[in-house]
Amino acid sequence: MNFSAQDEQYMRQALSIARQGTALASPNPRVGAVIVTPSGEVAGTGFHTYAGVKHAEVLAIEQALQAGERTRSATLYLNLEPCSHQGRTGPCADALIAAGIKRVVAAMQDPNPQVAGHGFAKLRAAGIQVEIGLLEPEARKLNEAFARFITAKRPLVTIKSGMTLDGKIAPPPGETPLPATPSAGGTTGGWITSEEARAHVQELRHESDAIMVGVGTVLADDPLLTDRTGRKRRRPLLRVVVDSRLRMPLDSRLVKTAKDDVLVLCSFAEEKKRRALEDRGVRVEQIPLGSSDGRPDFNEIALRLGQLEITSLLIEGGALVNWTALACGMADKVFLYYAPKILAGMGSVPFAAGAGFSKMSDAALVKDISLHRFGEDFAVEGYLRDPYAESAAGNISGKQISAEQVSAERVPATKEEKA
Ligand SMILES: NC(=O)c1ccc[n+]([C@@H]2O[C@H](COP(=O)([O-])OP(=O)(O)OC[C@H]3O[C@@H](n4cnc5c(N)ncnc54)[C@H](OP(=O)(O)O)[C@@H]3O)[C@@H](O)[C@H]2O)c1
Ligand SMILES: [Zn+2]
Repeated sequence: MNFSAQDEQYMRQALSIARQGTALASPNPRVGAVIVTPSGEVAGTGFHTYAGVKHAEVLAIEQALQAGERTRSATLYLNLEPCSHQGRTGPCADALIAAGIKRVVAAMQDPNPQVAGHGFAKLRAAGIQVEIGLLEPEARKLNEAFARFITAKRPLVTIKSGMTLDGKIAPPPGETPLPATPSAGGTTGGWITSEEARAHVQELRHESDAIMVGVGTVLADDPLLTDRTGRKRRRPLLRVVVDSRLRMPLDSRLVKTAKDDVLVLCSFAEEKKRRALEDRGVRVEQIPLGSSDGRPDFNEIALRLGQLEITSLLIEGGALVNWTALACGMADKVFLYYAPKILAGMGSVPFAAGAGFSKMSDAALVKDISLHRFGEDFAVEGYLRDPYAESAAGNISGKQISAEQVSAERVPATKEEKA
């Protein structure tokens, strides 16, 4: 497909507008729309938020219509395929046809199996010129959590960790005095990573629906696990702790700040402990056991979070939780920050503990790596699994559906239909 420099500029605008839906659109995708008149003027823009219900392209049409009949023969730029199904709103493809849009430029096919090519087919059947694939890699990255969630009914799971160059996430436990304020770097005698890196972690938290640590980290660091970007979110960041026997201290900062946004996942809930936590606004749930160690099964946790419409989960350790997430295949991604420091020693805490993989050929493979710089620190972002693997759009640009298939394949609306 040949796209002009102008096409690219408008698609960049659509992507950047879509990003305004961060923390507001979930569990729906982030979508931005730009309508451009035949004379090259932007007539309307829109982005989706879950609370606002309306989809980006419909908001853009409404804006263009308010300014006069400005949708006739216009081009629509959109980072995701327009929907073709009845969800909380009517199909956007129908709205585009009714508005007299002449050309639709979309970055990618919708990974939602209920749309997946049907939106494009519907537009083509109505004689609209449809061009797909402009800035597709950026668009796929933007909605990777949605893709994982909508196809697998579980969140995209990212292990985030801050470590030294030699892969240590903390000095030997119990060898540094407790700091006066936990915010000065936990009990570890100072932060590992730089202020710039830690500011970026806040961005990751802002993009996530939930964050998870093991009770070991709560006992060691007493973290808050909040999104401190100060930017708006539709739902509070769900703070999850895996804690088999409810060892969570009642005077921990998590418990003290809980407002129905702290979820403790256990395997055995002693009634008295459960009630003490629940009385303080902490949610407690029992999760089926995994292996013989009597601890909650991480894959069951992923499914439970999916039921709660959590589309993205950030795991912030510590060592044992990182290992479990790797070993059981729950993790899809890593975001590992490295500070130019070397801790050394057998006693310091490694990125992932547990049994470890016994052969090099069993090692977890991280693919599609990108490197980031944060002051003196750097970070490695990479994938353990393709978030689009289970979607029809697994291959870039997806498969094309014929106009005849559209009417034959109309999918009935279901309760799960959200996008
Ligand atoms: N630099 C960083 O980015 C970073 C981030 C976080 C933590 N840390 C460091 O990591 C250290 C803590 O690591 P840690 O290994 O002791 O703690 P952890 O991984 O946070 O927690 C481990 C505990 O979680 C509980 N758990 C429940 N279900 C589990 C499951 N299925 N698999 C594994 N654990 C499960 C277990 O306690 P029960 O058996 O009682 O359930 C287990 O002992 C601290 O030194 C902390 O400073 C560093
Ligand atoms: Zn729609």
